[in-house]
Amino acid sequence: MTSFIVNADFPAHRPRRNRRDDFTRRLVRENVLTVSDLIYPVFVMEGEGVREPVPSMPGVVRYSPDTVLEAAKECAALGIPVMAVFPVIDPSLKTPDGIEAVNPKGLVPRVVAQLKDAVPNLGVLTDVALDPYTSHGQDGVIDDDGYVLNEPTVEILTQQALVQAKAGVDIVAPSDMMDGRVGAIRTALEAEKFIYTRIMAYSAKYASAFYGPFRDAVGSAANLGKSNKATYQMDPANRNEALREVAADIREGADMVMVKPGMPYLDVLRDVKQAFGMPTYAYQVSGEYAMIKAAAANGWLDHDKVMMEALLAFKRAGADGILTYFAIDAARILKA
Ligand code: PBG
Repeated sequence: MTSFIVNADFPAHRPRRNRRDDFTRRLVRENVLTVSDLIYPVFVMEGEGVREPVPSMPGVVRYSPDTVLEAAKECAALGIPVMAVFPVIDPSLKTPDGIEAVNPKGLVPRVVAQLKDAVPNLGVLTDVALDPYTSHGQDGVIDDDGYVLNEPTVEILTQQALVQAKAGVDIVAPSDMMDGRVGAIRTALEAEKFIYTRIMAYSAKYASAFYGPFRDAVGSAANLGKSNKATYQMDPANRNEALREVAADIREGADMVMVKPGMPYLDVLRDVKQAFGMPTYAYQVSGEYAMIKAAAANGWLDHDKVMMEALLAFKRAGADGILTYFAIDAARILKA
């Protein structure tokens, strides 16, 4: 039969040769996902024996301090390096200035101390931002017009990071997008001799609608109402600006940088890794998780296959690790 293939390389070059057998597919594989790439985010609330499901995030629960310990032990047993703690704060403790965030006896410092005591080999990461603590759901303190004030917010965030460091946290992760906060936190940590507290900066964090289920989970959605975070989180249209944000956070003392959300921003992740070669993390956020769960629940997607493919895509784009609500599910598959 006459061949109509018009390719100067063909048949010298037949890419399908390497794809023919599993052994060569494995041999030429460029990227792998390992358990060491995973960070497991958890929601924690007061109480005992609590595992309260989050409706918009099937499979995700709100833990109490005792049950989160069980999850931490499971992470450690699976080899997941780090757990990220997000608080669900009692509405009675929420104020316009979110000052509960700096309470040394608050939920987060207590949980951190307990985790480091019981599971010392598991790294613990805490979010530095005020939205779980403010009565208006914004990440900082606001003026009469609802505008988030930069310096007054950075002052509280710095105290919040110090309280977390004193409780023994390994990594603080400012997710607030205030200007200058990484430098302020680094200076304060050094001054207080917390020279090993790592800062994972949410450097390129976009004003994204993909955070919806997270705001349900921590109970900030209703407080936030119709207002948004566009005056401090980044415009989803911008790419160059992400590089400037990351550069600033590195200069200010970040040890690791993050791009958030994940899958819709793989181009940004790629740019950041390529430009700076820093330890770079992707946050596969709540909305990304919810989309996969919803489609899988309908039988429209294969849950495990799509989950593993999405996580691998972060590695291919240049991530050194991924914050993902799938961490335990994925780790179980990787261990099997
Ligand atoms: C709080 C914070 C948010 C997320 C992580 N830290 C929400 C927000 O910025 O509104 C989102 C995580 C997710 O959607 O999974 N500053």
